Amino acid sequence: MKIRKAVIPAAGFGTRFLPLTKSMPKEMLPIINKPVIHYVVEEAVRSGIKDILIITATGKRAIEDYFDHNADLEQHLGKNNKNKELNEINIFADDVYIHFIRQKEQKGLGHAVSLAKKFVGNEPFVVLLGDDIIKSKKHATKQMMDVFEEKQATIIGVEEVPKERIEKYGVIDGEKLKENLYLIKSLVEKPKLKDAPSNIGIIGRYILMPQIFECLEKIKPGAGGELQLTDALVLLQKTQEMYAFVFDGKRYDTGNPEGWLKTNIEYAMDDECLREKLKLKELLE
Ligand code: G1P
Repeated sequence: MKIRKAVIPAAGFGTRFLPLTKSMPKEMLPIINKPVIHYVVEEAVRSGIKDILIITATGKRAIEDYFDHNADLEQHLGKNNKNKELNEINIFADDVYIHFIRQKEQKGLGHAVSLAKKFVGNEPFVVLLGDDIIKSKKHATKQMMDVFEEKQATIIGVEEVPKERIEKYGVIDGEKLKENLYLIKSLVEKPKLKDAPSNIGIIGRYILMPQIFECLEKIKPGAGGELQLTDALVLLQKTQEMYAFVFDGKRYDTGNPEGWLKTNIEYAMDDECLREKLKLKELLE
């Protein structure tokens, strides 16, 4: 089975970023001059995926506009010979299709993913959370797709999480097969520290087998009163093998002011021009 499709849930309220998210999707926050979701879509595309479904909600129109053509702007840039800018706004090749669907009620990540059922059909697919970006030599999604080639099973991206943050994550219990691969024994969404089975937290990348949709139909509201993807994974794990993969790279959670600022500083550090202009090295000393 080959992976051809990706789903990007981007429907959450973004409460960690209020009041800004009253009128602006958190996925449109800039990391330097591109919105967070640009990096997420780019990761999928550069990993070889050409069909991408973004799940949005009320108040998220800016995401749809960002991936659409803007004929007036293109004409204006063309007339003024601004070719560099013109190239920059035509983000992806014409054979990349970005589809949208709206989640009418924000009932949680599990519910958002369940809306992708028609789009996905009966094939394995990738889920990339819309506010997690990962900097790595080889894209994290591609790394996971390579593991999938061999395992042909659900693969969940994970990393070690500091104790004080464990309650914010889905957490796995697993048997270590290799330095970066676990066979999952159980999963739990946002456990209390004392109940957490390990310090291995789920980050925003998943390769899911299509049977996840049957499991999503069965779950009840869980942590935070929401329909949780992790709870559907618990059901799926009872019927098929599931792996957790520690990707090579650095993950940034941009969905809160601290994480977003940190991401911008680190991306600016990577840009020679910005690093010099802002005297970032001196600033951070
Ligand atoms: C979601 C998932 C959780 C995962 C986290 C990673 O939670 O439900 O399992 O650990 O993303 O960012 P959220 O951050 O949307 O509450």
